[in-house]
Amino acid sequence: HQDEARAPGKPMPVLPDAQTVTSVRHYSDRLFSFRVTRPQSLRFRSGEFVMIGLMGENGKPLLRAYSIASPAWDEELEFYSIKVQDGPLTSKLQHVQPGDQIILRPKPVGTLVHDALLPGKRLWLFSTGTGFAPFASLLRDPETFEKFDEIIVTHTCRDVDELTYSRELVESIKSDEMLEELLGVEALGKLRYYPTTTREQSGTMGRITTRIEDGSLFSDLGVPALNPEEDRAMVCGSLAFNLDIKALLEQAGLREGANSDPAEFVVEKAFVG
Ligand code: A2P
Repeated sequence: HQDEARAPGKPMPVLPDAQTVTSVRHYSDRLFSFRVTRPQSLRFRSGEFVMIGLMGENGKPLLRAYSIASPAWDEELEFYSIKVQDGPLTSKLQHVQPGDQIILRPKPVGTLVHDALLPGKRLWLFSTGTGFAPFASLLRDPETFEKFDEIIVTHTCRDVDELTYSRELVESIKSDEMLEELLGVEALGKLRYYPTTTREQSGTMGRITTRIEDGSLFSDLGVPALNPEEDRAMVCGSLAFNLDIKALLEQAGLREGANSDPAEFVVEKAFVG
């Protein structure tokens, strides 16, 4: 990778497009997050993904799409990942330690970006599992708070401990002095967090799709049902989840947008194995 000036004596990376792991945190036997150095030349929009991975045993890079979970202003890059015990990449990636190198192709792309949505009143961020990752980026981006009066992030997981990453992230934003100084105290009050679990008992149970259909999501939050005048949405989870939410959004009259043709909602599949 040619972009970075190297100090004399600093070892050359052994991998193409190598970045160095700076920290790792494990949340459960299924989930972990890690941070890596950021190529100086890498520019991205909050919500985009890049290809990252490790060198495979055949000497070829083994890469998968990962949403960048850190905001565009951050010096490092953060990723939130599932651990699949027999997954070709995550079975190895889950063992990375600070100082290790990973491969990161510096070509960010993706549809979960502000440019793909028309202006609106309320932004819904619907996620399951590691689909929360792009929202961890968007929620730390001042633009998200500048563009909407209300931001509601839903995160559905099987068990309570799988909500740790999103719960801590939302808490950290609510007490973030830099964002508060930049946007004003009331801006951070726009953010609301709606976690649900489906297999372990918690304060709010059930699939978010069920709660949209029975209306309890809206009555719990005291907001009107989804409508194309006020609501904008970003969706990130498993394929089945994305399709089910998409159908509900379309039923409510929202249209799918794209970078080149902004509309009322956008969808992207979370990395799954
Ligand atoms: P459920 O436990 O009822 O399958 P996973 O860990 O399998 O990726 O799932 C993450 C969460 O997403 C689980 O709580 C799961 O609920 C939920 N989920 C999976 N598929 C759908 C779907 N089609 N619609 C809504 N929620 C879903």
